[in-house]
Amino acid sequence: MTTFPKDFYWGGATAANQCEGAWDEDGKGVSTADHMTNGSHRVPRRFTAEFKPDLYYPSHKAIDHYHHYEEDIALFAEMGFKMYRMSIAWTRIFPNGDDEKPNQAGIDHYRKVFKTCKKHGIEPLVTISHYELPYHLTEKYNGWASRDLVDFYFNYCKVIFTEYKGLVKYWLTFNEINIMTMSFGGVFAGGMRSSDSAFDFTVKETSENRAVRFQALHHQFVASAKAVKLAHEIDQENKVGCMIAGLMSYPYTCDPQDVLLAQQKNEFGNFLCGDVQVRGEYPAFANRFFKENNIVLIWAEDDYQTLQAGKVDFYSFSYYASSCVSHDPKVNEASGNMMMGIPNPYLKASDWGWTLDATGLRVYLNMVYSRYQIPLMVVENGLGAVDKVEEDGSIHDSYRIDYLREHVKTMGEAILDGVELIAYTTWGCIDLVSAGTGEMKKRYGFIYVDNDDEGNGTMKRYKKDSFAWYKKVIASNGTQL
Ligand code: BG6
Repeated sequence: MTTFPKDFYWGGATAANQCEGAWDEDGKGVSTADHMTNGSHRVPRRFTAEFKPDLYYPSHKAIDHYHHYEEDIALFAEMGFKMYRMSIAWTRIFPNGDDEKPNQAGIDHYRKVFKTCKKHGIEPLVTISHYELPYHLTEKYNGWASRDLVDFYFNYCKVIFTEYKGLVKYWLTFNEINIMTMSFGGVFAGGMRSSDSAFDFTVKETSENRAVRFQALHHQFVASAKAVKLAHEIDQENKVGCMIAGLMSYPYTCDPQDVLLAQQKNEFGNFLCGDVQVRGEYPAFANRFFKENNIVLIWAEDDYQTLQAGKVDFYSFSYYASSCVSHDPKVNEASGNMMMGIPNPYLKASDWGWTLDATGLRVYLNMVYSRYQIPLMVVENGLGAVDKVEEDGSIHDSYRIDYLREHVKTMGEAILDGVELIAYTTWGCIDLVSAGTGEMKKRYGFIYVDNDDEGNGTMKRYKKDSFAWYKKVIASNGTQL
């Protein structure tokens, strides 16, 4: 017996800058993501203000989904997808971000993509801003640090909500907006200026940077709320969600100090953004944080009303792994200050050091649902791994099937717990460029793409073993795992 509702949205997810390529075609402008080089697990990606001929910028080619979308969506349909989460590249619609008129070729492109989805009975779920914005907005306005971006984003939303009315019903305003609470979030998620630099995820910040970043986050909250209201006005059928990186922190020990730290991490990392977008106001603990860090947010007169009027319809999040936190400096030092936290002695980890923790997904689902009681979507989940293509073109990715199976099981349990879960779109349903490392070899897909870390390959698509497995999962609505 399945625990998944009969109209459950099974599917997969991608992001424009990680899959489209065609970075300068059909009038597209340059985005912040186009300035990021490739890297690896050990070597950070770099952000360069000028393009350097000896460096490789993976978004420029990616997997060329821009030209392969029909073939790719047909493959998703073959697996039985009910939903395809994708993002629109803002630079295809407004190449500079502050242009007076939108780029017709960009509008036409996504119309074709959405029509293709509809033809196959797939519901698009569209991320309006996924880790990129027109680079011109970075150069001229310092990205989201400027309140002007609220208006530019609003104009962009107006165009896409109007143009795709009737084709797209589900929208996400910002991908993993809570990354802005972290030191590296300003450049990555806020499009804020950076000199040529290595992209260090563990970077320490100054109090000044932090204040600017939280102001930028506030601007994103306001922009998101305005978008929600506008979406509802343009089409009553529209449903708009927030998208939060599901960062699950565990106490490293049962020392109350560790427990407290884990609670604070979960609140600060997840609920600060969740509360503003779901409840329309900052949580109480945020005030203490702002006060103690000398952060004085600048509010426009009507910001409070705007946030209240723009509460999201559903809560979506990504979930990959959990991490441990400790108040003990010695434990922290021994872990080497890893981005993914202190290794958990009870869990194994992927080749990239991400823990394999399906139970954490159930904990997270329950934690969030008991706080908000609105429909939830898991819009990213998956295993980044190296895949080997056999001579006959087959790819035996049993490790990926194992990972996904365990997560589907815990989602089923969470539904039994009473959680209203309506969608599951696995990350990188087709191999794409890794956001964190810029690699191709960190693959997540059911579909293999012949392309390597330097952009060499035929771009030919191959079905992995997980392709047939996921097809069966969807056809049986989660009973045949
Ligand atoms: C999420 C992002 O954080 O994780 C995606 O929304 C990203 O864009 C995904 O690709 C997986 O991370 P990575 O670094 O393995 O690509």
